[in-house]
Amino acid sequence: MRPAARLRGPKFGGAACRFGVCLGGMEIERVDTQNSAAVWYELLRVAHPVDTPEDPPPCRDDAVGQLIHPRPDRESLLFAARAEGTPLGAYLLQRSLLENTDVACLELVVHPAHRRRGVGRALIEHLAGQAKALGCTRLVAGVEDPLGEDGPGSRFAAALGFTPVLRERRRRLDLAAVDPGEHERLLAAAREHSAGYTTVCWRDSAPEEHAADYAYLFGRLSADAPMDDLSWEPERYDIERIRTLERHILLRGFHSYAAAARHDATGRLVGVTRISLPGCHRHFAYQEETLVLPEHRGRRLGLRLKIENLLWARQHEPELRLIDTWNADSNDWMVAINERLGFRELRRSAEWEKRL
Ligand code: ACO
Repeated sequence: MRPAARLRGPKFGGAACRFGVCLGGMEIERVDTQNSAAVWYELLRVAHPVDTPEDPPPCRDDAVGQLIHPRPDRESLLFAARAEGTPLGAYLLQRSLLENTDVACLELVVHPAHRRRGVGRALIEHLAGQAKALGCTRLVAGVEDPLGEDGPGSRFAAALGFTPVLRERRRRLDLAAVDPGEHERLLAAAREHSAGYTTVCWRDSAPEEHAADYAYLFGRLSADAPMDDLSWEPERYDIERIRTLERHILLRGFHSYAAAARHDATGRLVGVTRISLPGCHRHFAYQEETLVLPEHRGRRLGLRLKIENLLWARQHEPELRLIDTWNADSNDWMVAINERLGFRELRRSAEWEKRL
């Protein structure tokens, strides 16, 4: 993230918060997400040109949609800090109700015009109280930094007693910079190495006959992806949970494109990859989860699925040009595939954890 525009002014009394009200005229109050979720989007919108100008702006449908259509397997709390009605910052706390129930996942943003005045610290102190009341023992937050230096997010996290537990990197693929012949050559070779598998593609919702396999693969990712020092209980998905997630993704305005490998001998899906496009951008997407089951690895299925899915997505999304993805630094296999596809490092990122 870029150094924030700084406005040195009086500090708000973070530690002096009582009953949701802070000294210095700042109040931290729960936001009614059904009626006032737009405050979250507005803060993301004004922070974007300061923190991540190289990214497309946030989409309203995504920011607001996740709040007005909460996932039934999670509870979410949105709190905003205001002074005389003006939003200074906010946090979104999310806790899974099914696994890792001890973890409060958090997103926090402070209005660029009100940074370095204790708003962030006051919000984290408030959040810690809420998380404890929910029975959480850990706070976990994702933070991005420029490649060569620590940014405000990680400096803030370190100052507040968080430690990095999972080091990642965000990479970006610019399709305009890739030799189109290169992907074709890689795909042809990968298909030769992975005879005996057929690619199955879908948009938004897995075909009924593959939904159970897809649910299993999706959950399996949380067990197989490297987590380094982040202790993470594997997530379990069944058809009902994956269908709920597919609906939730659509309600946030995203369209998903997926490609899966069907093992011809058994008819089972043994690998999958997914790209998602936020509703307000046609040129930008996220390369989401990719998984090949251990007994089917070593056949270039991961590379094959990713290229086939890119081709599939581009059939529907001819304007697609930029695709971002995150990988743990320790995930050599996935990083190698992404580098071969032309993904290039954009920022460092990390999951930071604080024990309560
Ligand atoms: N550079 C160096 N240290 C910083 C910076 C910075 N830009 N910002 C905060 N800190 C550290 C300092 O130690 C500071 O204490 P000090 O001012 O007495 O030196 C301490 O953090 C507390 O700072 P606050 O004033 O409470 O933080 P602020 O209100 O400015 O919010 C935040 C900081 C949330 C990182 C803001 O810059 C922001 O919204 N950035 C974009 C989104 C983001 O990165 N979110 C945080 C993710 S990490 C997490 O949630 C645990």
